[in-house]
Amino acid sequence: MRIERNLGMDLVRATEAAALRSGRWMGRGDKNKSDQAAVDAMRMALDAISMNGVVVIGEGEKDEAPMLYTSERVGSGEGPEVDIAVDPVEGTTLLAEGMPGAIAVVAVAERGSLYNWQGIAYMDKLAVGERARGVVDINAPVDVNIRNVARALGKSVDDVTVVVLDRPRHKELIRQIRGTGARIKLILHGDVSAGVMTTIENPPADILMGIGGAPEAVVTACALKCTGGEIQCKIWPRNDEEQALIAEQGLDVHRIYHTEDLVRSDVVFFAATGITPGEFLRGVEYFGGGARTHSVVMRAASGTVRYVDSTHRWDKLMRISNVPYDRGANND
Ligand code: FBP
Repeated sequence: MRIERNLGMDLVRATEAAALRSGRWMGRGDKNKSDQAAVDAMRMALDAISMNGVVVIGEGEKDEAPMLYTSERVGSGEGPEVDIAVDPVEGTTLLAEGMPGAIAVVAVAERGSLYNWQGIAYMDKLAVGERARGVVDINAPVDVNIRNVARALGKSVDDVTVVVLDRPRHKELIRQIRGTGARIKLILHGDVSAGVMTTIENPPADILMGIGGAPEAVVTACALKCTGGEIQCKIWPRNDEEQALIAEQGLDVHRIYHTEDLVRSDVVFFAATGITPGEFLRGVEYFGGGARTHSVVMRAASGTVRYVDSTHRWDKLMRISNVPYDRGANND
């Protein structure tokens, strides 16, 4: 069945639900409970959507994750057949430590179109927004890519901002970026937000560079597919075990995966809601009896990017769902 309607408007309810429930755990130091709250709420909201979904990027394999595990069926079971990528809390440490930038994310694409590497944890990534699409090459030297992006954006190199995860493994990358004179935004976590940031209006960063989670690369690709941006990535094995896995699966560490390899369809929807306050999305703002959320919804077919500000009132929300929104983290 073709996907005629904008599923993104349904998906945003799922990211809002995840943010509303998990936002209660901000700064409480418990990654597992905050993630669990988001997973439970997102799972319930996804099941209310008319779709026949299968989780391709999820919380892990069935034996590690009780819900939203890879290959789990979600949605009402009726309607379009789709692949789903979920990240109920992107930036679990950010949320648990009360730091900026945690978001709830979900993406949906036509069945069979989302890529997933089995057992591969990390990818080396390069992502840019629409205006710099086609001018970067992950195999090119860092300074060449930065100069090309500067030219495409009509800026000087000094005005280009590169966002990089703050990790010891990026010491040499950071040295090379600094050598060009470009600005660097170091982030503690959350390279989905960072990748998406390159593609929004007035982007706070122009390029994402460096090694981050493999599932996150696919989620980022879904957003970039909607906006016309681009991601390139290469498998980054951590150890001999992963090298062996790569050989076993016939994968190639030299292969460049492009946006179109990660999402092989133009029927793609992406939704994200801020959990903790961030540069990309505002966090959940709780008030007596309810809360406000700030989200983004994207659709590849139309290229539409919508920002959605929602006000939620617990009494009304609970009449139409089974989620105990009125209870805080202490009462879970
Ligand atoms: P989680 O939300 O799963 O904690 O991931 C956060 C994150 O920062 C991702 O955005 C990023 O891709 C990955 O972790 C980087 O991994 P690591 O912290 O091991 O360098």
